[in-house]
Amino acid sequence: MKLLAYSLLTLGLSVSFNSHAASIYAGKAKAAAVCSQCHSIRNHNASSPIPPLAGRNEEYMEMALKQYRDKTRRSAIMNNIASGLSDRDINNIASYYSRLKP
Ligand code: HEC
Repeated sequence: MKLLAYSLLTLGLSVSFNSHAASIYAGKAKAAAVCSQCHSIRNHNASSPIPPLAGRNEEYMEMALKQYRDKTRRSAIMNNIASGLSDRDINNIASYYSRLKP
């Protein structure tokens, strides 16, 4: 019981330290469910047309996903995927991937 309380406390603290109050946990869940079907965490195959996302700049990723969503950046695949993301999803996902080691 003590251990559980401690885990919840540290979990809460690590989330509230985050600058945008984004949740890397929610971002991770979304990434695992959706993005990882195409984007590998690390680019194992250099000739793959799908860019790796780990360690990418957080602001860059947010901008790219918003551009895909409002279709100012064109990609048949990513326009479709980004159309289902809220601002919060985008913050969470960018927060998660930007903290992964490339
Ligand atoms: C069906 C496959 C597929 C899925 C699923 C997918 N992507 Fe992509 N993604 C691509 C492809 C292909 C590109 C390159 C497209 C282009 O820019 O023309 C891309 C490009 C990107 C880029 C631009 C990277 C850069 O270097 O500018 C970002 C950011 C991105 N995806 C994020 C995501 C996120 C976040 C998710 C999950 C919500 C996701 N993608 C899910 C296929 C996918």
